[in-house]
Amino acid sequence: MIRFCEVSKSYGSLSALRNVSGSVAAGQVVVVCGPSGSSKSTLIRTVNRLEPIQSGRILIEGRDIHERRWSVNDLRSKVGFVFQSFGLFQNLDALGNVALALVHVRRMPRKEAEAAAMDQLKRLGLADKAHHMPSQLSGGQQQRVAIARALVMKPAVLLLDEPTSALDPEMVGEVLHTIEQLAGAGLTMMCVTHEMGFARRVADRIWLMEMGELKVDADAAAFFAGEAGPRAREFLNDH
Ligand SMILES: Nc1ncnc2c1ncn2[C@@H]1O[C@H](COP(=O)(O)OP(=O)(O)OP(=O)(O)O)[C@@H](O)[C@H]1O
Ligand SMILES: [Mg+2]
Repeated sequence: MIRFCEVSKSYGSLSALRNVSGSVAAGQVVVVCGPSGSSKSTLIRTVNRLEPIQSGRILIEGRDIHERRWSVNDLRSKVGFVFQSFGLFQNLDALGNVALALVHVRRMPRKEAEAAAMDQLKRLGLADKAHHMPSQLSGGQQQRVAIARALVMKPAVLLLDEPTSALDPEMVGEVLHTIEQLAGAGLTMMCVTHEMGFARRVADRIWLMEMGELKVDADAAAFFAGEAGPRAREFLNDH
């Protein structure tokens, strides 16, 4: 579903991604972990062109994401993204946030878009919050609305960058539960997280980043059994 082929990226003189190669199969969940500054966010942001790369290729379903025929709108419909900070529009209610891209990117009539958005909110247990503004929702509910907003586009892949790290501890569980359900339903995901208990439950593979390099790309069961090499064991001991 996603393939990184010798991807390198720099921010000026800082080499942020060094020759990263790896692939994510359809239906797989890859949890990306690693120390702060190891380029986890940079890596997943390259997948939907939020960050340009200097060399290598990134393929989604075999198509290079930089292919000219593939517009940013097409790409971002295929690849959903959930940020640490939710990123909801404060002047729209939950329903409006979820329907927005259907209207403006998909050009769906508003009524139809709102029906699809309502359906998606229902699936995530948020139907009763549809007409709440973001400021009237808890952090966990806002993040679940953000997930609904990504899912309503029916993406082939969902990328999540530390989806629970901005939440109060009591809100973390509900968001992780939602993500676990999506994993169970077979959605392909790359998720950056420090929640190793969660990683143990949902991950098929673990990618460990260090200073812009993909140091460990291991089967999750092997990783948690301590069979993915000394670096992986060291990381596990610290987390
Ligand atoms: N827009 C930018 N301009 C310049 N340098 C950047 C930019 N974004 C990130 N960096 C640098 O690239 C490196 C990787 O950053 P990145 O945010 O990808 O790390 P991370 O693994 O996600 O860290 P964290 O766990 O703290 O979120 C860091 O050294 C960071 O300072
Ligand atoms: Mg980050």
